[in-house]
Amino acid sequence: MNFEPSDIQKEIQKMTREFAARELIPNARKWDEHHEWPTDAVKQLAELSLLGVAVPEQWGGAGLDTVCYALAMEEISRGCASTGVIMSVNNSLYCDPVLKFGTDAQKEKYLAPFARGEKLGCFGLTEPQAGSDAAAQETIAVKKGDRYIINGSKNWITVGPKADAMVLFTMTNKAAANKGITAFIVPTDTKGFRRMPPDKKMGISAAWSCTMYFEEMEVPAENMLGKEGEGFKVAMSTLDGGRIGIAAQALGIARAAFEEAVRYSGERKSFGKLIREHQAIQFMIADMGTELDAARMLVHRAAVMKDKGQRNSQESAMAKLYASEMASRVANKALQIFGGMGYSKEMDAERHVRDARITEIYEGTSEIQRIVISANMLKD
Ligand code: CAA
Repeated sequence: MNFEPSDIQKEIQKMTREFAARELIPNARKWDEHHEWPTDAVKQLAELSLLGVAVPEQWGGAGLDTVCYALAMEEISRGCASTGVIMSVNNSLYCDPVLKFGTDAQKEKYLAPFARGEKLGCFGLTEPQAGSDAAAQETIAVKKGDRYIINGSKNWITVGPKADAMVLFTMTNKAAANKGITAFIVPTDTKGFRRMPPDKKMGISAAWSCTMYFEEMEVPAENMLGKEGEGFKVAMSTLDGGRIGIAAQALGIARAAFEEAVRYSGERKSFGKLIREHQAIQFMIADMGTELDAARMLVHRAAVMKDKGQRNSQESAMAKLYASEMASRVANKALQIFGGMGYSKEMDAERHVRDARITEIYEGTSEIQRIVISANMLKD
């Protein structure tokens, strides 16, 4: 067992921490307030090879490991949670399944430009009636010669308004339930692909999401990702990796809240002394720091397992469950330390509470993570 990061892991952490301090922290509040897509930051993520961190160099990525990815996700999300999830969607939910299930021809066209960050990808699983129950897909793909005709809709698609392509899950055989789901790679300029304006949300306001409709949309059969009927496994194994990214995002949000509260506790006085000299505040800081470290260990364990090619459904679910709920607890405690100022839009504490909350919902709610964990623990 070794808790020491490698030289390259340290280097990635340092580089992303400096980038966040310079480019993200000074802008995150403004982007959130104006619901402004962080155009320059996303461009710079591409320049820093952060949009295809674990994609091999052959396919346009940085060729690093999942631990590097988790370290970078934490730092980027520490600077701006919205930028963090944009990075996570392109890396984990788009590039990862194309790398794992795509043919070489698909990788050439639909992976390399996305891993280089010239284009952005998104993940189309959620539907109005298929959120937690991901197998209840209603978007239908019907084969017609060498093409599929797709009709249906997806909603809450993070990065959807800006994406150039989507990994889209459809039902090709309704009677076969989860074994009738098939994935396709679909460029968003395909005829019949219609996007709605960005959703209005409680947090991560700079990371746009939207609903989209597919109307008689024709997709070549060669765009099928994996085999027909294999889509549910494509989705679930993708989410095993995605949940590591979201857990790392939660770490970053919690760290932002924690570090700002610790700093404030050394500035603010009450009852004749700094508030950090009160035991009530000291105990909060002790709990926050301990929970952050515990969450980070779960995240890094899941990342190491993914790097070793080991099935990590349970460990990723544990990391996502604990890190997301921890982030909400820590962000709320941080706001409490700020007192009335924490409730003000002039500070970042309230944004961290709003940003943390979504990590308990997307890429599987906390309840879904508990289902995955208990199903793994109770299987014979
Ligand atoms: N890897 C590979 N295969 C898997 C798998 C995995 N992680 N998990 C399940 N499977 C396989 C199973 O082995 C099983 O195959 P067999 O029948 O051949 O044995 C099959 O899939 C069905 O598995 P389950 O019986 O466990 O499926 P289920 O329907 O009972 O439950 C669930 C699945 C865990 C509840 C699942 O539906 C789920 O994870 N739901 C949440 C969906 C989710 O996370 N959505 C997030 C959307 S993306 C998003 O949020 C993006 C964003 O905005 C940033």
